[in-house]
Amino acid sequence: MSAVIPIKQVEYEHPLPGSTCDTRFAWARVPVEPTAHERQELKDRIRGLLKERNAVMVSHYYVHPDLQDLAEETGGIVSDSLEMARFGRDHPAQTLVVSGVKFMGETAKILSPEKRVLMPDLDATCSLDLGCPADEFDTFCNQHPDRTVVVYANTSAAVKARSDWLVTSSCALDIVGALKAKGHKILWAPDKHLGSYIQRETGADMVFWNGACIVHDEFRAFELEALKKEHPAAKVLVHPEAPPDVVALADAVGSTSAILKAAREMDARTFIVATDSGMMHKLRTLNPGKVFIEAPTAGNSATCKSCAQCPWMAMNGLAGLAHVLETGANEVLIDAALAERAKLPIDRMLAFTAAIKSGQPAGALVPNIGAA
Ligand code: 13P
Ligand code: SF4
Repeated sequence: MSAVIPIKQVEYEHPLPGSTCDTRFAWARVPVEPTAHERQELKDRIRGLLKERNAVMVSHYYVHPDLQDLAEETGGIVSDSLEMARFGRDHPAQTLVVSGVKFMGETAKILSPEKRVLMPDLDATCSLDLGCPADEFDTFCNQHPDRTVVVYANTSAAVKARSDWLVTSSCALDIVGALKAKGHKILWAPDKHLGSYIQRETGADMVFWNGACIVHDEFRAFELEALKKEHPAAKVLVHPEAPPDVVALADAVGSTSAILKAAREMDARTFIVATDSGMMHKLRTLNPGKVFIEAPTAGNSATCKSCAQCPWMAMNGLAGLAHVLETGANEVLIDAALAERAKLPIDRMLAFTAAIKSGQPAGALVPNIGAA
């Protein structure tokens, strides 16, 4: 008989009124770590179910190493949010099992409405998504009718549907740069730190929604400076969801995949990394001769120091994955009309980034301001 790993059932209500960062319920739902025997049994079961159900795994770099490794071992992918979207859209499997957070599952469903998209836990969300309700965002957009609406991927389908362009941290610089070159003024949402980084780099005229990632917002420049002194030869790699003073200390700034690329290509042995600690798995396995140190969060007086881990990403586990494959539970469903509207900005982003990849003039895909 196969082992059943219990998932704690707790009351879960999110968002709590007025709060986007009460993560108690998310942490309470983080699956119990399986024993070595249970882990093997679950992995074997999942391998069989993936074949039986014509399914493929799509995992993010921040989820548990088991879900990253298994995705790769079974012909799926572990990657950043942009490549997850592209892979899910292009893969022939009829079922996508997305290990990550809600917006990733929703993007997969929007791009492939004919496929079944399952997630280990549908309550795995994101503080940026929670902090940008569609109705309030619509009001904000209506106050700036002259601006092109550029929205970060970490948002709901409804917020995407209100946007002109979608971006991830892999392509935000290129897309906003191209929009600026064509005369666009930008309304940006929801991550204020990524937005301000893009503005500093491109000089675009931007107004911002006031959102933040609860994980990256905790990195602290003064602690990072102290750590740099302890490791003077270390290079600092930072995800642009971190605050500006942390970004200012970086040797490389970029998305999860850009961080991996920098670690591989930079001529250094030691790296200090300011992003979710889930990233360490791939950094260490792909660079066995190099040393990766987690950048510090909070301060000396804080009660929680350096636990840079997304509570929602941590809700993904092997038991949940096996359960949804077995039962078809936790299917991502989106209203068809809403999905059709939300698909437009995502398609624009994917066409733009595909053009860059193939050396085509991506700027030609951006209309001049005022053009239809
Ligand atoms: P990437 O697009 O860089 O993978 O980041 C997604 C995310 O949620 C970072 O916190
Ligand atoms: Fe959202 Fe931050 Fe978690 Fe990424 S790490 S999913 S931005 S809360």
